[in-house]
Amino acid sequence: MIDQPTIDRILDAANIVDVVSEFVTLRRRGVNYVGLCPFHTDKSPSFYVSPAKNICKCFACGEGGTSVHFIMKHEQLNYFDALRFLAKKYHIDIQERELSDREKQIQSDRESMLIVNSWAQTYFTTQLYEHIEGKSIGLRYFSERGFREDIIRKFQLGYSLEQKDALYQEAVKKGYKKEYLEKTGLIVAYENGNVNDRFRGRVIFPVHGLSGKVVAFGGRTLKKDDKTAKYVNSPESAIYHKSNELYGIFFAKQAIVKSDRCFLVEGYTDVISMYQAGIENVVASSGTALTQPQIRLIRRFTNNVTVLYDGDAAGIKAALRGIDLILEEGMNVKVVLLPDGEDPDSFARKNNATRFAEFIQENETDFIRFKTRLLLEEAGSDPIKRSSLISDIIKTVAIIPDNIARSVYIRECSTMMEIEERILLNEVNKLRLQEGEKQASVSRAAQKQVENRIPEPIPGNMPHPEGETEHAKPSPFEAYELALLKYVVKYGGTDLYKEKDPETQEEKVIQYVAEYIKTELEQDDLTFFTPTYKQMLDECVNLCREEGFIAQRYFLAHPDPNVSRLAANLISEKYQLSKYHSKHRELEQEEDVLKQVLAKELYSFKNAYIQHQIKEVQNKIKQAQQENNPEEILAFMKQLEQLNMIKRVISKELGERIVIN
Ligand code: CTP
Ligand code: MN
Repeated sequence: MIDQPTIDRILDAANIVDVVSEFVTLRRRGVNYVGLCPFHTDKSPSFYVSPAKNICKCFACGEGGTSVHFIMKHEQLNYFDALRFLAKKYHIDIQERELSDREKQIQSDRESMLIVNSWAQTYFTTQLYEHIEGKSIGLRYFSERGFREDIIRKFQLGYSLEQKDALYQEAVKKGYKKEYLEKTGLIVAYENGNVNDRFRGRVIFPVHGLSGKVVAFGGRTLKKDDKTAKYVNSPESAIYHKSNELYGIFFAKQAIVKSDRCFLVEGYTDVISMYQAGIENVVASSGTALTQPQIRLIRRFTNNVTVLYDGDAAGIKAALRGIDLILEEGMNVKVVLLPDGEDPDSFARKNNATRFAEFIQENETDFIRFKTRLLLEEAGSDPIKRSSLISDIIKTVAIIPDNIARSVYIRECSTMMEIEERILLNEVNKLRLQEGEKQASVSRAAQKQVENRIPEPIPGNMPHPEGETEHAKPSPFEAYELALLKYVVKYGGTDLYKEKDPETQEEKVIQYVAEYIKTELEQDDLTFFTPTYKQMLDECVNLCREEGFIAQRYFLAHPDPNVSRLAANLISEKYQLSKYHSKHRELEQEEDVLKQVLAKELYSFKNAYIQHQIKEVQNKIKQAQQENNPEEILAFMKQLEQLNMIKRVISKELGERIVIN
């Protein structure tokens, strides 16, 4: 655990622009920076980075927060590992606090699984180099394949013994829990108590996630019979989703950024052989069709993908599928077709690095040209095949988001297919229009969602004000509470009312923002009903008179990551702002009108609360009428009258406040 002063120092040091731009290309826009959101398919830049607030936020998908939240999400780390990540980047020494027994106990499953995997990787590697079986079978195999030792070390290759529970026995001896060995899939446990290792008599390829942790293993058999599966892989688990991972990405990411392009191949051995040949910007989709999360992973580092194909017909056909997906993401796709019968692995072994690079350069074709030519050849002069080919190509061209690129393709395809450019253009536009309509309705819905966005409810383990502890219902006033909480987070420690001491002429603060909100609510027997919000308000009230207290800073560095994330979310809310100000006005003006704005939000909350109560009383009256209980009816009517009176007062106040618009 990291102590609070260290967390503060890390957050102070971690410049958000600096942190984000390591992964996202940012452009300046006014006082902010913008870029493509790394967390969803972003067609136009929705990811905002505010150096002034030191936070980031995607206004399309809502992801974002402080540097720590960004790293948590991006590198798939927990809160403290993300802090450690940043501490390392900014050379800050970490003061670790001793874990309490309870904290030790609740170390997450994910972490334990990663720890087990990391141990298993070392174990497999040790067997490869030290066990007689590993040396004579595994290591020999790798060297016969031409893998150099530095490469074997780099990719942390290993060997699993034939013995059916060799790893399990060793793991138990070392004190690893069966639970995590099973969850990671390193062992298979049967109901009768038997336990087998998953990987037996295989060479091992660890699969590293983006941050270099081992999330899975692939094991290749060395037997030549048909009965044994060629590859055995770790199962899907809390730390491994095959369709989200790209083999080699950890080793390739820097080279991808540097060369501004990424080679895409099929499997483990292709990646390793190309890397060994000096082409380090290479990743594999591990035998399956490329998925959208994988494409986004690549797009964090480059927009240019070059797919390397085996030179056989089946390989090409399979590859055509899935490429539209890459185009759709606005990436540039090129294709290199290897000589017949070669895959990247075999080709890299037969040719030196220079020759390989030359070959790529000479044979690299733009994907659409490649597809058009291929389909043209196939269709020959068959008119039906030709027309289906044309509509196929048109579909692909229509996917390209960039206007200029699209028109270049239309021109080129018109020449290749001998069709008038005008006709192609028409068809493409028609398709785009149809797509556009679909998209527009989707994005309108998405936009609505953003505007009405309420940060995710926080699983609260604080007691509910009404004494309910578990599964507290979400408060019906959450939106109003949040609107106020935003001011607690931003200005909680700001003085709202000051007074001059008539004798000493010294200015004295009568009330801070947090105190004002709390007392105003209490006057009407109100409070935040959402436990976390209430907790935040109370903390702020308790701390706001302390020397040097700055609410925003306090909440952003809060030890509970849920609180700090919520704070970041509230600080970055831009839709809230425009309610009170025209978009061009600057933020300071929010402070100018703080009193008015606060009063308005308080009245809105009270108004909602009263209306809610009115409805409840009305229901009670109905029920009393059904039960024919005149006394109760009368009593409730009186209540209702009172409530309506309060409502009128509030409405009047609210009406006057609305001038602020
Ligand atoms: N693959 C897999 N699981 C399988 C089969 C294949 O994960 N059951 C993935 C592996 O990443 C493998 C890639 O698909 O590397 C390509 O498969 P294949 O060409 O059969 O294997 P290679 O690794 O190329 O093996 P080799 O060159 O030794 O035949
Ligand atoms: Mn192969």
